[in-house]
Amino acid sequence: MTDFSKTKEMFSIPEGMIYLNGNSLGPMPKAAPEAMNRFLNDEWATELIKGWNTKGWFMKTNTLGDRIAKLIGASAGSTVVGDTLSIKVFQAVSAGLALVPDRRVILSDDGNFPTDLYMVEGLMKLKNDGYELRTPAPEAVFDAITDEVAVVMLTEVDYRTGRKHDMKAIIEKAHAHGAVVVWDLAHSAGAIPVDLEGADADFAVGCTYKYLNGGPGAPAFIYVAPRLIDVVEPFLSGWHGHAAPFAFDTGYRPMAGKIERMRIGTPAVATFALLDAALDAWEGVDMGDLRVASVALQERFIKEVEARCPALTLASPRNPDERGSQVSFQFEDSFACMQALIDRKVIGDFRAPDVMRFGFTPLFINEADVLAAVDVLEDIITTDAWKDPRFQVRGAVT
Ligand SMILES: Cc1ncc(COP(=O)(O)O)c(C=O)c1O
Repeated sequence: MTDFSKTKEMFSIPEGMIYLNGNSLGPMPKAAPEAMNRFLNDEWATELIKGWNTKGWFMKTNTLGDRIAKLIGASAGSTVVGDTLSIKVFQAVSAGLALVPDRRVILSDDGNFPTDLYMVEGLMKLKNDGYELRTPAPEAVFDAITDEVAVVMLTEVDYRTGRKHDMKAIIEKAHAHGAVVVWDLAHSAGAIPVDLEGADADFAVGCTYKYLNGGPGAPAFIYVAPRLIDVVEPFLSGWHGHAAPFAFDTGYRPMAGKIERMRIGTPAVATFALLDAALDAWEGVDMGDLRVASVALQERFIKEVEARCPALTLASPRNPDERGSQVSFQFEDSFACMQALIDRKVIGDFRAPDVMRFGFTPLFINEADVLAAVDVLEDIITTDAWKDPRFQVRGAVT
């Protein structure tokens, strides 16, 4: 049984703060400063350029990928880290389209995170070859998988509502229709059990700054099914994906049979130190235990909010099996209400047009935190504290 009181001790959260925003940016692991100092003093300062070999910088993309693979049901050698999630979306979708060259439809949903849709828009413009992006409502995606579809691109857990797609069923239907599927696991990796290989996934991408706690600007990751690795085309054909990067050939040849071909160029090595330290918190965590604890926290939160704050409406699916690890509520002024909560050190976030999001991450949130957060929320609603004009001020990032 995973001891979540131990993992809670591993994170640095300011005194008095209840951090229900690990679904947006995970908190800092207490081990992070020392890990960064070690990187600076024992690696960069002392090894300089030799660090690529002596400190394993060149293959950190893979060693970190292997650590993430364990959390998403993937085998070693199938996942690499680097770049940003938007770039990994582009890589995966472009590679997916090349596997189904005779079709012109990319299927997503209208709840997908905008950058995923934007990256596909850019890709379609670049290809300039009659591609069409279809974005039905999430509930209609399954029925929209037809023989016209080349790539299904979905975020498994909806960033706004926490609604979860049925990964296995969608992959099964897509494969039956000859389509490939790209999963964005931004709100899945470290949030819920994921079994990419059990579900026969083709591609998956994700970030490490949310539930994996790698810090702002932490690298993204990409998974390619081992059965596809030798045939996928890396259109962002950078030298770190080349078969012989240090041969300095003028022509590109992808690394044969290895996930390295999904690397692009020099990665942000300093961020790897933070991610490595953050992944230590997952050693000994059972994803089944995590899921049970996450659902218990979410259910308690929903029950308390609905009983004590009837002005709020649940915006997430009521059935926990259909949710990831976040709960969203709507209110007449969700933005102001969230600002009032943040002012009182209960940190969630707001997503336009009218949703307050609360992330439940058992690694550092327990039942006492949930109850304390609802106490504050109830007070803000019953006293109309959210109506204070200072809670109307919007920053560049909401
Ligand atoms: C589902 C999803 N995809 C992509 C992103 C962002 O991508 P990037 O890391 O490139 O900014 C987010 C950010 O919250 C997200 O929720």
